[in-house]
Amino acid sequence: MMNNDKKRDLISIADLSQEEISGLFAEAAALKAGKAAGPDRPLAGKTLAMIFQKPSTRTIVSFSVGMVQLGGHPLVLNYQELQMKRGESIADTARTLSLYADAVMVRANRHEDVCELARHASIPVINGLSDKEHPCQALADFLAIQEHKKLKSAAGLRGVKLAYLGDGNNVAHSLILGAAILGMEIAVSSPKRYEPEKEFIEKGNALAAKSGGKIIIEPDPEAAVRGADALYTDVWASMGKEDEREHRKQVFGPYQLNAGLLALAKPDAVVMHCLPAHRGEEITDEVLDGPRSIVFPQAANRLHVQKAILLRLLSKN
Ligand code: CP
Ligand code: NVA
Repeated sequence: MMNNDKKRDLISIADLSQEEISGLFAEAAALKAGKAAGPDRPLAGKTLAMIFQKPSTRTIVSFSVGMVQLGGHPLVLNYQELQMKRGESIADTARTLSLYADAVMVRANRHEDVCELARHASIPVINGLSDKEHPCQALADFLAIQEHKKLKSAAGLRGVKLAYLGDGNNVAHSLILGAAILGMEIAVSSPKRYEPEKEFIEKGNALAAKSGGKIIIEPDPEAAVRGADALYTDVWASMGKEDEREHRKQVFGPYQLNAGLLALAKPDAVVMHCLPAHRGEEITDEVLDGPRSIVFPQAANRLHVQKAILLRLLSKN
């Protein structure tokens, strides 16, 4: 996140160090408990512009409400109505938004477009999901695990095992990188040809080598979940891949997060999902709505973590 003193972005969770993640979680926890230090409306007069190329419920609402709670202003831009949709370049859009707003959050089809926007914007850019990563989601998820395990800080996550089942997608990539930074063990279990991209596994391995973490790519879901503290899944067909949904249902069946797999994890293992869920596909109602699910606390943390991110990126600008 902290590229330099002038301009900081959050494009990948790997933009953050372990210490920075710990700091964000401490701030998020304080905000959540209503005990944050500093002024009541720290972002008064600041505007967050948000561009959505894909649908959203949690991201659009949590960023909007977060800005309002911090005293700032959320400005939701519908991509369909922007000149960018008619061919204005990303660079010119970035330069223009930088004249009016104080930060941009973007949900984009192409990760390179988020990077391009950040390169040409003089204000912070936050990745609100791309085809490669979903850093804000993963941060909320790790905070949910920290809270559930009653750990004092993100440093306590070292050695905790997360098993991710299903599509090796944007969420899986951010979880791999985040787990590696935090010194966790992450086992990813996907059908052949749907594994996480090599680039993220390699980057995860490099980060894990420094933190003491471990990245395991394990095609057998039963082996992946053994000894896990948390089981996580996401939709089998992400936004933009809807036409593959029926085909994917044929191959992803053994990776469904259900009571059978949960029984193989640690007795106190929790169930996680970033939402929205395709109930009955990647996850059963029984586990999503069951006593070991922390799916909605995860969703709730989007608000608190993003407020901490906004404070970090915006309060010094
Ligand atoms: N998890 C998540 O990002 O949800 P939305 O797509 O609803 O924003
Ligand atoms: N992998 C999913 C996440 C949605 C929050 C998608 O990209 O559609």
